Amino acid sequence: MADTSVAGNIPASGRRSRIAGVGGYLPEKIVTNADLTRIVDTSDEWITARTGIKQRHLAGSHETAAFMGAQAAAAALAQAGVAAASVDAIILATATPDEAFPATAVRVQALLGITTGFAFDISAACSGFIYALSVADSLIRGGTASRVLVIGSEVYSRILDWQDRTTCVLFGDGAGAVLLQAAPAGGAGILSTHLHANGAYGDMLYVDGAVGQRDRPGTVVMKGQEVFRHAVSKLSAAVDEALEANGLTHADIDWLVPHQANLRIIDAMGRRLSLPPERVVITVDRHANTSAASVPLALAEAVNDGRIQPGHLVLMEALGGGLTWGSALARF
Ligand code: ACO
Repeated sequence: MADTSVAGNIPASGRRSRIAGVGGYLPEKIVTNADLTRIVDTSDEWITARTGIKQRHLAGSHETAAFMGAQAAAAALAQAGVAAASVDAIILATATPDEAFPATAVRVQALLGITTGFAFDISAACSGFIYALSVADSLIRGGTASRVLVIGSEVYSRILDWQDRTTCVLFGDGAGAVLLQAAPAGGAGILSTHLHANGAYGDMLYVDGAVGQRDRPGTVVMKGQEVFRHAVSKLSAAVDEALEANGLTHADIDWLVPHQANLRIIDAMGRRLSLPPERVVITVDRHANTSAASVPLALAEAVNDGRIQPGHLVLMEALGGGLTWGSALARF
């Protein structure tokens, strides 16, 4: 790819990828726990005690996965000071694409006015952003691309059974994005990513249908307690794996930016890492679980409000349907 920019001039042998900009988008409509008590037999007390969730944003008809993804991506580009035209690739993680095809990433490309490069979606449920970040990092390290938009965008409100109180209270809609850019090895950037999947657990958390199956569009089915158990043990192992690979310890982490599924899982991870609560980025109370969008939304919030500063070491992790799970360690 002929890229004569500074990022493009770094030879593949001396490259890593760096997060150059972050952005997020949340739908205008906010639905509180009290609002949900009018739909299903639940209470603010139950939802708050079991999950830490107080409210979620739900998409209006114009707030598609592509629309929200493009909004988040535009914010990330603006923060990085990079023109949309110089993006080489768009990778969008979603479990709720607007159409079976084209990929939502391609729709985002068009909304951003980009006509070059390539774009595709990744399906790895709540781990989708970590997967997408890992692929983008590999593309940049290998020299295939120099600037990649990595997006998580989800409209889970479309795939929830709004009569099932055990699932519908847990999720929200939204999008988050980062611009990943080639940078010299040794400086700020992605230090490592680690990905895992085990399809033996496929029936623990899944959607019982698919895009295009008119009589069976599908809604989320979950064995909540089993997912909870696997989340804490697998994410703990993933964190140790990431630190060990980089010769680092728990004490080196400045910020944990976890997938925002449940405050109890997040608290357990923070304790496991001996991180004080103020070093853990939490959005689940206001966003609920936005699946692949949750990590980039939380990252964008903590960068934009000044908590994450240059030089900080940030650990991102997620687990979701598949089961899929993984981590990404980045120096800002
Ligand atoms: N309001 C009120 N009562 C409820 C609700 C609700 N919304 N949902 C379930 N209950 C009831 C159940 O019917 C049950 O009643 P019973 O004892 O009379 O049968 C009781 O509450 C307890 O149900 P449990 O399922 O045992 O509740 P638990 O403490 O396990 O909490 C939860 C459920 C929050 C889903 C928990 O298991 C959890 O957080 N699991 C992790 C899964 C998760 O976060 N998934 C998100 C997607 S995956 C991911 O992103 C990692």
